[in-house]
Amino acid sequence: MSTDARRRVAALRAEIARHDYRYYVLDDPQIPDAEYDRLMAELKALESAHPELITPDSPTQRVAGAPSAAFGEVVHAVPMLSLENGFTDEDVVAFDRRARERLGVTEPLWYWAEPKLDGLAMTAIFRDGSFVQAATRGDGVRGEDVTANLRAIRAFPLRLRGNAPRLLEVRGEVFMPIEGFERINREALARGEKTFVNPRNAAAGSLRQLDPAVTASRPLRVYCYGLGALEGWVPPPLQSEVLGALKAWGLPICPHAERVHGVAGCIDYYRAMAERRARLTYQIDGVVFKVERLEYQSRLGFIARAPRWALARKFPAEEALTRVEAIEWQVGRTGAVTPVARLTPKFVGGVTVSNVTLHNFDEVRRKDVRVGDTVVIRRAGDVIPELVRVLPERRPQGALPVQRPERCPVCGSEVLKPEGEAVARCTGGFSCAAQRQEAIRHFASRLAMDIEGLGEKLVAQLVEGGAVRSPADLYTLSVEQLQTLERMGKKSAENLRRAIERSKHTTLPRLLYALGIREVGEATALALARHFGELEPLIEAACSHPERVEEVADVGPVVAAHLHAFFSAPAHRELIGALRASGVTWEPFAPSTAELPLKGQTFVLTGTLPSMTREQAQAALGALGAKVSGSVSRKTRYVIAGADPGSKLEKAKALGIPVLDEAGLRQLLAAHPRR
Ligand code: IVH
Repeated sequence: MSTDARRRVAALRAEIARHDYRYYVLDDPQIPDAEYDRLMAELKALESAHPELITPDSPTQRVAGAPSAAFGEVVHAVPMLSLENGFTDEDVVAFDRRARERLGVTEPLWYWAEPKLDGLAMTAIFRDGSFVQAATRGDGVRGEDVTANLRAIRAFPLRLRGNAPRLLEVRGEVFMPIEGFERINREALARGEKTFVNPRNAAAGSLRQLDPAVTASRPLRVYCYGLGALEGWVPPPLQSEVLGALKAWGLPICPHAERVHGVAGCIDYYRAMAERRARLTYQIDGVVFKVERLEYQSRLGFIARAPRWALARKFPAEEALTRVEAIEWQVGRTGAVTPVARLTPKFVGGVTVSNVTLHNFDEVRRKDVRVGDTVVIRRAGDVIPELVRVLPERRPQGALPVQRPERCPVCGSEVLKPEGEAVARCTGGFSCAAQRQEAIRHFASRLAMDIEGLGEKLVAQLVEGGAVRSPADLYTLSVEQLQTLERMGKKSAENLRRAIERSKHTTLPRLLYALGIREVGEATALALARHFGELEPLIEAACSHPERVEEVADVGPVVAAHLHAFFSAPAHRELIGALRASGVTWEPFAPSTAELPLKGQTFVLTGTLPSMTREQAQAALGALGAKVSGSVSRKTRYVIAGADPGSKLEKAKALGIPVLDEAGLRQLLAAHPRR
């Protein structure tokens, strides 16, 4: 092997790295692109002549390996937090006051002020100066492994310059500059492909690619703004100095960040950036203030999922004018009849808005929206667009107030708006095509009648084909009929038929839950079954003595009203009759006289459990007599905490209340088998 080649390869890599650094970090390129391309071509040629000289951190190796089938999971050594938002100067003043009070500091604090970049958060690990791993934020605790994709971003270094620590985890934002975003959208249009709605989606879509070659072809940039895990380095005292060190190691830092003095400095910075925003080459949705001194940061600590030492001051949502072309009524899967305004399409807040929900009829009346009106619409970041107000002076003559439909636009059943409720609903239930499919899917679901194999797609086919109009029809289906469904062989049809048959023997709580009565979830169904023991007394009470229904724990007037409405409807009484006639049976639920093992104990659930829904946990605890409450107090027996717990967990810790995870909960449940 020639030493000349080895030397030249090393020299080329060093030179390319230097130009990358000048371009992406210092924003001060020294050579024209063509010259850079020439260096790269020479390096590639040398490496293909001497493959033994190829190393993973060579700039030619950014896209290495084949596309993967799925992203791996990365558990963040230090959780990735979010930021508290502020929307006014007063919010900034209050944030600064709280911070100084906690610290016991009277003089103004220094802050590190930087743009709030509109991309997606990433974390990247360097070991002994070499890039080894990158992940997305995910839920803050676990993210997706996007190592191969970050490698593919030329704007991010594969090796740090100078004396790098043993372990350095940096955090920052991956984003797509506006010019690049517009270019890839132009190119996509020319190819007749779909475009991205905004630079943030483009960045997210480009980073979360299973094929790193695609990521490499997208104009992504990264700005680093913080640290994760560290070994072999004690950070300097100030945030600005930390970023200075990152920059010296060759990591790209936002050039528009600066040190500001006190709350006045923060407010001036916000104003200046708001004014500058339209001229920036990248999209931002606000600015972030971080207490400069790291020692103060650690003294301030965190609340819930955000640090007390940082505040995101968001820009106000963007507004625009457009015209209402029509107001239509949509029937949701649960029967809610919702007004939707169709608009002359308008680009606002980074997307084209062509319709907005008006939520409910009261809202239409309150805002007095009419067809033909000129209206102000608003959209901020990820938020759903909204109709802010009507400009009455621009109303065309003869525009009439909107009327609420009396009949469902889908099935023609009566539309009712219960007293005190904002939402109007179609009363068609199973007989309304908009609701039927969802109602039957729910009926068959695991926690309801548990018809194994009868998933959403099959239900859709059965309902659309007209074979099933009500849940009772499921019990009349023959193997031959089932076999006519898509991708349904004889064997699967027989299995499904058996599953349907098996579901006939059920329990009262499951049946009640399966009926899909509004507000009657698994836990309420269980409480009702336990209280009434059989269906008839419940129907009797629901229809004639609602106050008796309210005696059930956790049942208030709203649930009682829904039970009343449900069981008073002839169609629903017929349904129950039809279910019985097709052989559906349920055991009476013997109200237990024995003391339930967890009676009198209050539990609080917070966060997401890995494999149980909140309803399931609540139902399981309820079955043992425990009460599940929404807030932690000294009386709380246990707090069950999953991923992303809220402030309840902090409170539990502060009060010294025992905390269980899902495994702990399961152990506790197993210790008291349900009778
Ligand atoms: S600091 C503990 N700085 O905003 C500190 N975040 O709302 C957490 N973001 O997930 C992040 N620009 O994706 C920080 N200059 C900036 C930022 C920034 C954008 C994003 C980031 C984070 C989200 C939190």
